[in-house]
Amino acid sequence: IKPEPTVLVIFGAKGDLTMRKLAPALYNLYLDGWLPEKVAIIGVSHHDINQEQFFGLLKDGVNQFSRSGKPEEGKWNEFTALWSYFKADFTNTEAYKNLASQLNYYDQEWGVRANRLFYLSVAPQFIEPITINIGNSHIATDCARDRIVVEKPFGRDLKTARDLNQLLAKSFSESQIYRIDHYLGKETVQNILAFRFANALFEPIWNRNYIDYVQITVAEQVGVEQRGNYYDKSGALRDMIQNHLLQLMCIIAMEPPVSFEANEIRNRKVDVLHALRKINREEIHKYAVRGQYGAGWIEGKKVQGYREEKGVHPQSNTETFAAVKFFIDNWRWQGVPFYVRTGKHMQGKFSAITVQFRPVPHQAFPTTVTENMLPNRLILHIQPEMSIRLRFQAKRPGLSMTLNPVDMVFDYGDYTTESPEAYETLLLDVMQGDATLFMRADQVEAAWAAIMPILEIWESRPSLEFPNYTAGMWGPENAEALVARDGHNWAMVSSLNGHSKE
Ligand code: BG6
Repeated sequence: IKPEPTVLVIFGAKGDLTMRKLAPALYNLYLDGWLPEKVAIIGVSHHDINQEQFFGLLKDGVNQFSRSGKPEEGKWNEFTALWSYFKADFTNTEAYKNLASQLNYYDQEWGVRANRLFYLSVAPQFIEPITINIGNSHIATDCARDRIVVEKPFGRDLKTARDLNQLLAKSFSESQIYRIDHYLGKETVQNILAFRFANALFEPIWNRNYIDYVQITVAEQVGVEQRGNYYDKSGALRDMIQNHLLQLMCIIAMEPPVSFEANEIRNRKVDVLHALRKINREEIHKYAVRGQYGAGWIEGKKVQGYREEKGVHPQSNTETFAAVKFFIDNWRWQGVPFYVRTGKHMQGKFSAITVQFRPVPHQAFPTTVTENMLPNRLILHIQPEMSIRLRFQAKRPGLSMTLNPVDMVFDYGDYTTESPEAYETLLLDVMQGDATLFMRADQVEAAWAAIMPILEIWESRPSLEFPNYTAGMWGPENAEALVARDGHNWAMVSSLNGHSKE
């Protein structure tokens, strides 16, 4: 269903996110006919550029980052006709009066009260003046039609996240607030819900009786790129685990929802966060490992160490790698470790969730043939490979009884050559008023609460070992020990064919 008439206001329209993600996503939605019949996009930024220059930048962004590639001239002109550029200081109240008249203009022109979406693609210090000004200028008073989209970082700890929630609550009701976690918009992540709750096969064994442990890896090959300044105040725990990895964990561990209503899904997910075992401060080292990359090689190219990156303090204590062992203290998951890890400048880009099943309860085959026997394993590949692989034992063809692990594979590529980008899904959801894939205030706070003990200990006790992994490796040795102590290894994929290896 096409969304209702909409005016989308993007604050921070000249920024990186707009160029890399929002403009390409909107362009693809436009090409695929998903934008509302009546739609206007107002790009707000304090930069002194004219509309033509702004369109030039949008075009560069779409050229470079859109899955549909270089735009065709006619289509591009139709697309930019939806946009206007509004140079404004986010802190200036006059700007919001002007914005109000622009919004009223569309209502009059279209003969309906359009939905108003305010997208905050701005540095954290601008969230306050923008939301206060939107509130004071009464341009977002229709709870059913007006929405605000807030990007991460959502606070930098539990306290600041709470403050931010309270601030937003002054001008918006909770149902109007869309906190983005772009991982939830990924095709492969949404499919986990379908996989778990649209099939009868796995749910009966999706618990401590059959599952040995779960691993979630989000490994990145890139370093901090141009974001040293931001990243050095953040680190892997805040930047990735507090949001993306914990959300993946919630989807894997949540109870079956009664319906696919937004609040029902979010209730089931937040239950998982509430059940996370609080890690004892004195035992943090047993549950959490941090790393920072030093100079090394990525695919044969020399790269500098984190402390040499632009915007990073030369003695920085910020972690570029983090691994944590979580336990979920509820009936379903008691005693099952959830190992999560993420890092920058690792050997390859590889995001996957591994569900390791227990070994068979009784080994009936003679020991001569069980050497290669591995327990069942399900790998949900998020990216770049998009697939689901289930490992099971099979008899190797031949006269003797020899067993070998093989994979049963569902590959997205067999169904489609192109999947929508996360931001396409999420922007369309905001336009349609579907908050299922967005974070509610209590979810964000519960996720912060889960990592606070680690965060506080790491900040108060600088690591004496940094840098402790070479760029292009899989993180520090201690991360191996975190799982090895329990008798496991991190599941890896061979970059050539994606097959799971021990
Ligand atoms: C962002 C982080 O939220 O996610 C980045 O701030 C990270 O540091 C990015 O690189 C990863 O997203 P994706 O979609 O490329 O896996």
